[in-house]
Amino acid sequence: MKTNRLSSFVLHPCGPPRVTCIPSKHRSAMPFVTSWTRGVGAALLSHSPSTSFSRGEDGRPSPWHRWRFPFSNRRGAAHCQGGGWQGGGIDLSIPAGHATYNLYMPVTIYHTGGPGDLPPYLQAVASSGGLSQGVPLEPSAEIKIKPIRSLLSVGKPQMIMMISEFMEEMNKGLALHAADPSAHWDEKKCCFKMLETHIDHIPTGSEKGVYYAVDVGGTNFRVVRIELLGDGKIGKTSRIKRDLKQLPPAPEKPKGLLDASVKQSEFFGYLADQVIQVGKHEGDIAGEGLEGEASPVLGFGFTFSFPTQQDQKNHAILSHWTKEWDTGRDYTGTDECIEGRDVGQMFDDAFAKKGGHAKVHGVINDTVGTLLSCSYENPHLPPVYMGLILGTGSNGCYYEPKYKQYSYNGKLINIEFGNFNRSLPETDIDKQVDADLSNKADVGRQRFEKMVSGKYLGEISRRFVCSIMADKLKGTKAELIDSLKSEHASKIVQDESQNLEITCLTLFEQWGVTFSLNELRAIQEICRLVFDRSASLAAMSIVAVALKADRIGRNAEGMTVAIDGSLYTQNPWYQHRLKQHIVDIVGREDAQKVHLQIADDGSGKGAAVMVAADQQA
Ligand code: BGC
Repeated sequence: MKTNRLSSFVLHPCGPPRVTCIPSKHRSAMPFVTSWTRGVGAALLSHSPSTSFSRGEDGRPSPWHRWRFPFSNRRGAAHCQGGGWQGGGIDLSIPAGHATYNLYMPVTIYHTGGPGDLPPYLQAVASSGGLSQGVPLEPSAEIKIKPIRSLLSVGKPQMIMMISEFMEEMNKGLALHAADPSAHWDEKKCCFKMLETHIDHIPTGSEKGVYYAVDVGGTNFRVVRIELLGDGKIGKTSRIKRDLKQLPPAPEKPKGLLDASVKQSEFFGYLADQVIQVGKHEGDIAGEGLEGEASPVLGFGFTFSFPTQQDQKNHAILSHWTKEWDTGRDYTGTDECIEGRDVGQMFDDAFAKKGGHAKVHGVINDTVGTLLSCSYENPHLPPVYMGLILGTGSNGCYYEPKYKQYSYNGKLINIEFGNFNRSLPETDIDKQVDADLSNKADVGRQRFEKMVSGKYLGEISRRFVCSIMADKLKGTKAELIDSLKSEHASKIVQDESQNLEITCLTLFEQWGVTFSLNELRAIQEICRLVFDRSASLAAMSIVAVALKADRIGRNAEGMTVAIDGSLYTQNPWYQHRLKQHIVDIVGREDAQKVHLQIADDGSGKGAAVMVAADQQA
């Protein structure tokens, strides 16, 4: 049945809307009412003239119907007077004292007719309880939001300043590498690491065959097996995906395998087991016995999304953890730690202990994987000059045509831009988020990434919200660090519903607090400001790279930016804002030369594509 949304209104402790005496002549425009979320026991009071009222979950017929309200397992009752539509009515009031009475309860009315069929009583409901979007904030809220708005908006002059400083740092990093390619990174000389990648073959899209990759460093760990069909096509893909925070051998530790007390041998031993499991399942690694002995060693690509120093393609020394990873930190200085040691070698050692079925072909950063997979899958787009991650962490790599001149072996350079630290529009709240990190080794590092990436946006938003609603939120979960994750803030940012119903539910689920519509609007605006600042800084980095690579400006031919990471791929609002910021900075004509392409799961797939490109070059 095709339905039209008529109106949303809100059942609030005081003044629930009532609908009474539905005139029988309006029966053709039969309304029904539904709780708006999850479709759980949707509160259909009626959905067709012939069936009259649906039955409630308790199976009792009209006039009493029960349904599940949006929040937790509580239920409310819809009181349907009159036993039918004719001359009957609906009373959506919640009985005083009922568990749901004090909840802010959004309800949506739908109807099956056209706008002209609307019974006047429904219009009355809409106007009595309905609240439309676009209403300005109440003056008191506006006064509190205004300073936050100016703190979080990055003006064009500052953007331009940052772009030129960003390019300056890139040039400095290149010059330092040219002078001494084996020198260790010195933050005082350049905030970017400008790392060697050893990527000599950019895929063309024509590669074929079955390849493996392991992806470590985002929210999840993945083993990917893909079949490349050529012409940019990918056939069968199989994978396993695990959240390393939830895994043994330390289930009692909140950080699971990311905990400081986990040894490198346990960590890589676990990863090796997962690869062997998939390889055996797919028949690419033979089982035990004679057959096993004859099985060829599986060479796979290893995406490791942290800064590493690489003197060879399959050897990568981890400079330091980012994104609050701690694995092995309790063993610093021993061969059970990971920081400062070769992750390619440690992975190979773990395979050797388990029979030597597989070996690391090459270690790459996730930005590099994203660029490579996008190049494979989109041979007809403008050349991919930048790989960008906007996810738990954030970073970019780019194609440097003069790589030889700067003494690089690889054509791609991992900028590690998360550590950019010049002219940052940092607020006191950004500084507090940084200062309060549990591992003090991470304080002061990656300050740009902390303003851009998903790991931190929810927490920054939460702190701003608490700063303007301190009294209301006192003693609630909202005061707890990390009680608003970026994935929740991302839902709030994208909420287009008339009464901010998704925002209302998300906040209730996270904090157990209910808000007036005006408060919800203020919270949404704060989240949007925080996400928008992130989008503007990401846009700034893209423009800097496009200028550095001469892909925008007069006669320039443009480029593709391959983007992976849920902050971007899962949030169309963010995608739109990022594009808009590019237009604001460089104008429409140049912005059109920058093609933004989602490379979903590209970070992992790209490592498999790298092996293919190397073997088929
Ligand atoms: C790491 C980068 C990585 C980025 C995205 C950052 O924290 O330093 O190497 O590319 O996260 O995952």
